[in-house]
Amino acid sequence: MVRSTVATREIRQELLQLLHTSSQQEHQEGKKVWRLALSDTWYKHPGSADSYNNIAQDKDYMPMHATEIEAVLQNGEAIRRSLPESFTLADLGCGDGKHTFMIMESAKLRDRISSYCPVDISDIMLNEATKTAYAARYGPAPNGCSVDRIKRNFVTELDQVVAGVSREKPTLYLLGATYSNFDRDEMLSLFRKSIRPIDYLYVSAQLLADGASVQRQYLAKGAETMVTDVVRSLGFDRTDVTFFDRYNSERREMELYFLVNRVPEELAEKYGVKQGDEIVVLYSYKPRFLDFENQISKYFDGIVFTNEKENYAGFIGQLRRLEEPTKEPSSA
Ligand SMILES: C[S@@+](CC[C@H](N)C(=O)[O-])C[C@H]1O[C@@H](n2cnc3c(N)ncnc32)[C@H](O)[C@@H]1O
Repeated sequence: MVRSTVATREIRQELLQLLHTSSQQEHQEGKKVWRLALSDTWYKHPGSADSYNNIAQDKDYMPMHATEIEAVLQNGEAIRRSLPESFTLADLGCGDGKHTFMIMESAKLRDRISSYCPVDISDIMLNEATKTAYAARYGPAPNGCSVDRIKRNFVTELDQVVAGVSREKPTLYLLGATYSNFDRDEMLSLFRKSIRPIDYLYVSAQLLADGASVQRQYLAKGAETMVTDVVRSLGFDRTDVTFFDRYNSERREMELYFLVNRVPEELAEKYGVKQGDEIVVLYSYKPRFLDFENQISKYFDGIVFTNEKENYAGFIGQLRRLEEPTKEPSSA
């Protein structure tokens, strides 16, 4: 079945709102760069769940997942030691759940999962992840654990996600590499506000060790189609824009963007989009190991690990305790 890729009115409104609030930077020649921080809007497109699952199977994209698994396998013992004997697994942006299952399996953590909460905005993904969890028999044998799906936006509704997760055990919030598609400070501050001191966070990122292959994976089949839906929803014809990719070394982000050749009237008049502007529709953080570590350690304490090739990093840990206030010297 071919799904329609035409955006609904709601998605279009969200995109225009993003355009409205997008932080624009003046380009050298007076052109603007519109940065649409899209992650969830993008996945609301009919068909994008399928597109992502196709991309994830692509030979140029798969190594990223494989490298993360390698890093987890090579650090299995440290990972196991840093986690409690039993925990709730909240799989944020679960996708089809297969990659999460590989992570759990590689770290030999499957039996420690007391309940599994796939969290996603997409029903398709939640259905797939539920099937994966049952098939993989998460949790203690023989019956496995309960699966409690949560259809929520884990950014704008993180508090509700946290409230919906079973509170009986500590929770491992698994965001993984989806961390790279958000503003890191914003995400980490959100978690700091919302999760409990007994909970854990797992985030990961592909490191910028091999620029060429990093770039190639973003040209995996389906990626261009997926992001093209976004500019079409904004009102552009495909021929109005040209697709490019680049590494933005200042922000340490891989970017997929469109150069605007022709501007639909509404976007020119209401939003001030001009010919020659650029619209960044996807970014992904590709830091150096130290950048990754320093960023997280502002908020969290735990283990930071990498693989032997040092092209992938992961973090598991808990909220950093606030410094004990220093005592006033006694006047007695
Ligand atoms: C890049 S895929 C990753 C899937 C899976 N975790 C993996 O590693 O293969 C991102 C997933 O997150 C979901 N997603 C993105 N932004 C979201 C948000 N703000 N709230 C809830 N789900 C979101 C998408 O629907 C999609 O399933």
